[in-house]
Amino acid sequence: MTDRANLLLAPDLENLSGFEAALAAGWFPDPRRAGDAAFIGAELRRLRQDRSKFLDDLSGKPPAGSAPPLLTTRLFCIWDGEFCGSISLRFQPGTEALPPEVAGHVGYSVVPWKQRNGYATAALSLLLDVAAREGLTRLVILCNWDNDASRRVIERNGGQLFKRGPHPSDGPDQIKLHFWLYPRPAT
Ligand SMILES: CC(C)(COP(=O)(O)OP(=O)(O)OC[C@H]1O[C@@H](n2cnc3c(N)ncnc32)[C@H](O)[C@@H]1OP(=O)(O)O)[C@@H](O)C(=O)NCCC(=O)NCCS
Repeated sequence: MTDRANLLLAPDLENLSGFEAALAAGWFPDPRRAGDAAFIGAELRRLRQDRSKFLDDLSGKPPAGSAPPLLTTRLFCIWDGEFCGSISLRFQPGTEALPPEVAGHVGYSVVPWKQRNGYATAALSLLLDVAAREGLTRLVILCNWDNDASRRVIERNGGQLFKRGPHPSDGPDQIKLHFWLYPRPAT
């Protein structure tokens, strides 16, 4: 049986192999890139050329000597013994504000062959604990208006719809649902 409490793993060389296999099967963490074979192929080559560098990029680690990034990213693999997908939290320390082009504080994707097991719902719940530990009290999360699965994941985690409309992270015709999410304060 899957241990839901340990569903999130920091990326490492072991789960990177699962990530690689998922890319090779045409999956990509950002659904806006789904089906973009040229882009995904280029990412796969980049991973295979320099696994450590790819891992650092996934983990949001800035290149040696560079200034710290404005946006902090915490990416986790969703892992049930095998690679299931990824979920990430992005934020600017000390504020709930985000640069306008950033598509909310949270992004997630489950590989098609692991969907409908409750993994995204459980992963988002665990990510809210991570956000609480980072001192974040309110997050913005977006999904396309017709993404019923994602909407359900957000609502199951207490998401409150506050706006319906486009977002600078996507095309002007792509209507998004904008939700607030409230991390539980750490006890
Ligand atoms: C959205 C996504 C992450 C959901 O992952 P998942 O692990 O299958 O989700 P869960 O198993 O936790 O299911 C959550 C709910 O959505 C429902 N659901 C799952 N897939 C569904 C689908 N294709 N259509 C309608 N409902 C669906 C489940 O039945 C469940 O409902 P319940 O809470 O009433 O039981 C996954 O479909 C995915 O990766 N899609 C592509 C990327 C994407 O859209 N990411 C989100 C961007 S905002």
